[in-house]
Amino acid sequence: MPDSFLNGRVQVVTGDLPAQRVDAIVNAANWTLLGGGGVDGAIHDAGGPQILAECQEIRRAQYPQGLPTGQAVMTNGGNLPARFVIHTVGPIYGRQPDCESELLADCYRNCLALAVTQGLQTIAFPSISTGAFGYPAHLAAAVVAETVTGFLAQDATLHEIRLVFFSPRDTKTFLKHQTFPRN
Ligand code: AR6
Repeated sequence: MPDSFLNGRVQVVTGDLPAQRVDAIVNAANWTLLGGGGVDGAIHDAGGPQILAECQEIRRAQYPQGLPTGQAVMTNGGNLPARFVIHTVGPIYGRQPDCESELLADCYRNCLALAVTQGLQTIAFPSISTGAFGYPAHLAAAVVAETVTGFLAQDATLHEIRLVFFSPRDTKTFLKHQTFPRN
């Protein structure tokens, strides 16, 4: 059974992000929007070239200097079960010690806001910044829980925010350190 919070609107699961059947999955991308390793590589591998083509067009038309940290953009979902991919760029841990928790919160808030603007109801997130970008997972857990709780308090349209962790150990770390209010 998945662990859930906020009356079931938040689900915490272990799994493969590209396989999630939701309206949109979130990509933990980098400023280039042109792919990379980790969950970014897995999404482009599974989703095919249509996603990359739209990323290239976004770079050309909107972000020639790259997507700034904390911002989010949406593309098609290519061959994925999800209709859309929302790409965001998490902070690299240690680069901006004064504001990295705020930048991580921006990622979650901006992805959620974009989903709502597009009328989406279900969205799945990876654990942004906690892989190659080195954000300690136990610190990220509290930032994610606070940000999602704040967002859902002022939104009535999102049905499910699924937080997807790659291993049971990552899920356990999140569950231990999350700060969601008890139902
Ligand atoms: N499903 C779910 N979670 C995954 C998957 C998957 N298939 N693959 C990895 N994770 P990372 P970041 C988890 O490194 O730290 C890329 O090269 C992983 O275990 O993907 O934001 C980008 O292009 C970890 O918990 O993202 C950027 O350059 C979490 O996803 C850079 O890495 C995030 O790890 C972004 O680094």
